[in-house]
Amino acid sequence: MSASPAVSSPDRWIVLKFGGTSVSRRHRWDTIGKLAKKRGDDNDARVLVVVSALSGVTNELTAIADGAVDSARRVEALAQRHREFAAELDLDVEAVLGARLSALQGLLADPRARSRTLDWQAEVLAQGELLSSTLGAAYLRAQGLDMGWMDAREWLHAVPPAPNQSEWSKRLSVNCTTAPSAEWRQRFATQPSRLLITQGFISRHQDGGTAILGRGGSDTSAAYFGALLGAKRVEIWTDVPGMFSANPKEVPDARLLTRLDYYEAQEIATTGAKVLHPRSIKPCRDAGVPMAILDTERPELPGTSIDGNAEPVPGVKAISRRNGIVLVSMESMAMWQQAGFLSDVFEVFKRHGLSVDLIGTAETNVTVSLDPSENLVNTDALAALSEDLARLCRVKIIVPCAAITLVGRGMRSLLHKLSEVWATFGQERVHMISQSSNDLNLTFVIDEADADGLLPVLHEALIDSGAMPVYEGGVFGVRWRELNGQFRPRPLPWWHDAGKRDALLRLAAKSTPTYVYDLATVRERARQLKAIAAIDQRYYAIKANSHPAILRALAEEGFGLECVSLGEIRHVLASVPGFAPSRILFTPSFAPPDEYRQAFELGVNTTIDSVEILQRWPEVFRGRRVWLRIDLGHGGGHHAKVNTGGKHSKFGLSVQRVDEFIDTARALGLTVTGLHAHMGSGIDNREHWRMMFDELAGFARRIGSVETIDIGGGLPIPYSEDDEPFDLEGYAAGLAEMKQVHPAFRIAIEPGRFLVAESGVLLADATQVIEKDGVRRVGLDAGMNALIRPALYDAWHDIANLSRLDEVRELDFGVVGPICESSDVFAQRVKLPATTAPGDVMLIADAGAYGFSMASTYNLRALPGEEVIDV
Ligand code: LLP
Repeated sequence: MSASPAVSSPDRWIVLKFGGTSVSRRHRWDTIGKLAKKRGDDNDARVLVVVSALSGVTNELTAIADGAVDSARRVEALAQRHREFAAELDLDVEAVLGARLSALQGLLADPRARSRTLDWQAEVLAQGELLSSTLGAAYLRAQGLDMGWMDAREWLHAVPPAPNQSEWSKRLSVNCTTAPSAEWRQRFATQPSRLLITQGFISRHQDGGTAILGRGGSDTSAAYFGALLGAKRVEIWTDVPGMFSANPKEVPDARLLTRLDYYEAQEIATTGAKVLHPRSIKPCRDAGVPMAILDTERPELPGTSIDGNAEPVPGVKAISRRNGIVLVSMESMAMWQQAGFLSDVFEVFKRHGLSVDLIGTAETNVTVSLDPSENLVNTDALAALSEDLARLCRVKIIVPCAAITLVGRGMRSLLHKLSEVWATFGQERVHMISQSSNDLNLTFVIDEADADGLLPVLHEALIDSGAMPVYEGGVFGVRWRELNGQFRPRPLPWWHDAGKRDALLRLAAKSTPTYVYDLATVRERARQLKAIAAIDQRYYAIKANSHPAILRALAEEGFGLECVSLGEIRHVLASVPGFAPSRILFTPSFAPPDEYRQAFELGVNTTIDSVEILQRWPEVFRGRRVWLRIDLGHGGGHHAKVNTGGKHSKFGLSVQRVDEFIDTARALGLTVTGLHAHMGSGIDNREHWRMMFDELAGFARRIGSVETIDIGGGLPIPYSEDDEPFDLEGYAAGLAEMKQVHPAFRIAIEPGRFLVAESGVLLADATQVIEKDGVRRVGLDAGMNALIRPALYDAWHDIANLSRLDEVRELDFGVVGPICESSDVFAQRVKLPATTAPGDVMLIADAGAYGFSMASTYNLRALPGEEVIDV
């Protein structure tokens, strides 16, 4: 490769395009000036600025070109608007705008105006950009910039029309040449100013008149200039931070796409995002000119870069929804083996000027979709189409439909990851599934009404399944919500504290694998729950973690202890000296009847959840006071396996059998003093408990003797950095509101995870680091026997290299254990320092709940140790 020349290369260009909203305010022009200068200086390049008309102006000009009756008034209003803006820019209105405004007014008097010839219309439409660029050039010069103005028509030339092009598109939706002559280059390079400004949207027609590039034309102008100049880069400056993985208005969790290849960007621009006009990508792609989409208000954000150099990253990059899709289903018995049927029906579409989007075929049916953004698909047009098609086949029009499209490279090899997506669609009626032949998109057509609210669900399913690889930091950036300050990141965990980290390293040196619990974190969570005034009684579900020090700490904080077995009850009584059995809540499930008998004898508050148990062992329950667990029929949680509600769950009395239960209980002299429900674990919807309380209060009134309503545990914690901390305030507010509605009942809760998960870490030694077929894995001396959550629920736990906590986490590793099972994997992919090596102390975070308590000695690996830090 030859060395780059030492002299500067002033003929290297950067093209910057600014849209309507970016040129309509004075402070925005200051930004344009600053950016143009900075881009030139930083890159030792010359800068070409391409601008749109002031916002709204092109719409007005279109009305005038269409012959609006009040055109004269509209022209005057436009003139006035530009005069006012010139004044706001402190320009000499007459000197800067006089000639331009007379040209605009002159067009109304032009003889062509009467018949509204297309060349006249093009000239009318061109005025908006001519005005805005003239104002901008004058303003930026007044600010001291060396800014030259040029007429884009001198430089962009429409290509000769294609044979089947309509007259309209030959003038008002043209394409331009992208191969400059030597003379063109020479002439361009010798323009005196270092910075230049010109118009988007307009070009020179073969006949020397004006031609228009069509909607989105300013992006395309910038792309043409970029291609002609062989520019270093084309930057499209807009009022959004770039392209997103979904429309952020519908999916606030959508991610900024920081880097795309031309083809993906083209597909996203075509099927969803309106940020960049799809036509603008091809010129840059053909010329190999990189593009960027950037936010004028927030120029410091990375934006979206589009180029052809990146290593392709397979996976879904974006999901979009288009409304108003029309499906035309054509049924013909005669179609079977009939040559030419498709050609006959498509000829009808062609005759009606309709361009077909998706196609599905069967032996006797062809279904196609029409996209309203490409076609005029009003009722008249469809009626006319149906009438003509009816001569060939049976026609059914299905409207309104929505097309949901997944875009990304390598769609075909992703199918195995899309099971959740299929499941989500499985609940809707899918009219059509279409996969693009370029392997870049997969589209589902469903009824428009079914599409409401679907995008956030699909977006999350795509991330959870790994089909949308948001961990690819080179492609996916921040969430929309974060950009708008609507994301509360989880605070840095306790083990980042230097003192605690040292303590952990000392404990790890003694023995691994070992769980370590930070009691200060347990107490902090306990106090957060104690601060919720609406709650009268708090239990801790000890199944999450029954370490005696934790039980004692929570007992000191005033918590009762919820147990699910006689074993847990005995453990509590042995570990917490003097703990009153009445502070224990026993919530067994299908337990042997003797456990109930013993619990009553100990004086433990006991929950039952069936009629059968009373019928089969009446003597155990006669005359007792109990709580009743009800299944409210709908559960939730972080995984299907922790959902404890509904027909498929073994827990709780069906609401259908409450009356039967009351009768049976009454016959036994049994008093129901509490109602209980726990519908799942890790529920991320703060409304859930409020609604539970409300529903249980209804049953409590029916029963009469109920004093306490226990709304269970299930509070989530933020396991990944994508999760926000639980909205405790919202939870508290909902309960306070319910307390006012049902003041007669005490509220009890019984969380496990929330109190202890974040307090615990699992420390393990790295045993081996191995590369296989491009995948780097670090092995630990802890396996799924020590922490089963990832294997059992696909649960995510962050993993850090505690020995190298200060090093950059730059490389992807799989983290695995020593157990003889394929599911012995803590993380398929987590970023760790590149230097990670055998002997390092690895930390698995947020393992305080359902960690040790679910550990086993599988493969005859010893149980992990347990330690407590209490400082
Ligand atoms: N109350 C009852 C009746 C329960 O069954 C449970 C949990 C809780 C309270 C406490 O739920 P928490 O607040 O911790 O979500 N092993 C799974 C969780 C299973 C939960 C079982 N029951 C996991 O690791 O995610």
